[in-house]
This record gives sequence, structure tokens and C-alpha cells, in this order.
Amino acid sequence: MQIDLSTIDYFTESGSVEAVTSRTGNEADERLATVWAMLVKHLHAFAKEVDLKQGEWEAGIDFLTRTGQMCDENRQEFILLSDVLGLSMLTDAINNRELASATESTVMGPFHVKGAPELPMGANISLDGKGESCIFEGYVFDQEGNAIEGARLDVWCDNVDGYYDVQQPDIQPKWNNRGIFKTGQDGTYRFMGAKPVSYPIPHDGPVGQLLEKLGRHPNRPAHMHYIVSAPEYRTLVTHSFVDDDQWLKSDVVFGVKASLVANYEHSPDGDAKWRSPFDFILVKDTTN
Ligand code: BEZ
Ligand code: FE
Repeated sequence: MQIDLSTIDYFTESGSVEAVTSRTGNEADERLATVWAMLVKHLHAFAKEVDLKQGEWEAGIDFLTRTGQMCDENRQEFILLSDVLGLSMLTDAINNRELASATESTVMGPFHVKGAPELPMGANISLDGKGESCIFEGYVFDQEGNAIEGARLDVWCDNVDGYYDVQQPDIQPKWNNRGIFKTGQDGTYRFMGAKPVSYPIPHDGPVGQLLEKLGRHPNRPAHMHYIVSAPEYRTLVTHSFVDDDQWLKSDVVFGVKASLVANYEHSPDGDAKWRSPFDFILVKDTTN
């Protein structure tokens, strides 16, 4: 049978979106079809708006290829790319709306390690003994101000040289500056550690090169990471930031929120150089 070539809609610049999205089959998952259609719509609009040159397309493909090649079990360059694009924080914001009065969330980052040791209240997580000692303490509350007993705090931070233990496995003790604590009956937690310092995100790969070309610095303001969880509450992924840090206004991954900046006071009892009180408010999980 002869095909009537004049009736075929071949790919054109003006009809590019429809050309691609009309191929999606009825059996495609509904959400996937929606997300795919929006991705094609905005990606094609982007290419048209910047009048994408062939060499720029090639440079983009090369950049994404090198980003993928940089990834292994210890390094996730694509998440770093999402972070510096602000996409990680935007996703976090979209998924944590309507949480007035609760502690705000922020990026997880790539340096969390599952299985950190569970430590008794007051224990010291700074195993290398470096840096300025600091007591981290506070309450975990619900939104009505009731203390939550048995809330789990998974905490981690860098050492005084600005590296996480997993970045320096041959230099730092395993589990340096990490631990898991559970709140007591009164909802309090307390642990000793080193005052975190600011550090650059890994910038020896394609994302670092991109930052340099954009005239952007790679630094994060000093922070302590927390995953706070309790049965029947939404798990909170957040940080407390050190209040005098020079990078608070220009965190490379946009993770800072005013409510997450913690006080660092000189400890009055002399048991540590610093004391940083910080409370958490968890939201009831209504999804089940
Ligand atoms: C971090 O805070 O550990 C982190 C977050 C995003 C990118 C790199 C590191
Ligand atoms: Fe961090």
C-alpha cells in the first residue's frame, strides 16, 4: 500500500512539543505521562528561548556525561548539581508546605551514613577531639508544646578541618562527629561535640567547574545536621546553623532559613567552650 506522505506531521520547530508528547501511549502511567509532558514542554521552551547552539548542546551533553561518570557509591555529583541549581531546596519547599509553627526542613546533603552508634545522653561525638567543644541541647516538642519522649536524633557534622569522616576514612576515626540520641521523658536531648565549621562542597568535579565559571563560591555555612523522628510524627531533616558564619547569606546550596540559625553562647559551666540550645517541633503524621 502506498503511504500518502503529504498527510504525515513530521517534526518541526513550532510543533516540537506535540511531536514528542503525542507518542506517549495510553498504557503509560498517568503521573509519568504528566511529568514527561511538562518536562518536554519546558525543555523545548528553554532551547527555543536561548536559541540553543549545536556546540552548546554538545557541551551540555558532555557536562552531564562527566557528572554521571563522577558518581559512585561515595560521590553523588547529580545531587550536588540539583543542590547548586536550587532544585533540592525547591523540592523540599514544595513537599513541606503548611507547616507553620513546626521546625523547618532543609537539604539532607550527601554525607549522612546509616547505622551510626546510638549513644547515651551527654556523650561526646567528637572522636578526634579536634575543634572547639560545644554542648548541643534542647527539647523535642509537638505543635501543642508537649514534650516528645523517645524522639530519635540522628546527628552529624564536619570536623574542624571542614571534612566529614567519610571524606577522610584514612584520617578520621569511623563515626567521628556522628551519633544517635533519644530524648528522655521530658523531651530533652543533650550531646557534646565540636563547633561545626564552614566548608566547601566537593568542587573537584564538573559541578565545581560550573560554579567557578559562574563566578560562584562553593561554601556552606557551618551547621549541625539532624534527622529527628518519632512514632506518629513526620520525620524532620534539618540543620542548625552557626550564628556568626560568614556564608549564612550565600550558602552554595540555598539551605539556610532564618529559623534554623542557632545561638552559640560561651558555656557558663566551663564544661565546654560553647553551648548551643536548639529545640525541634515535629508535626503529627496524618498520612496513615
Ligand atoms: C551537606 O550539608 O553535607 C551538603 C549539602 C549539599 C551538598 C553538599 C554537602
Ligand atoms: Fe553538611
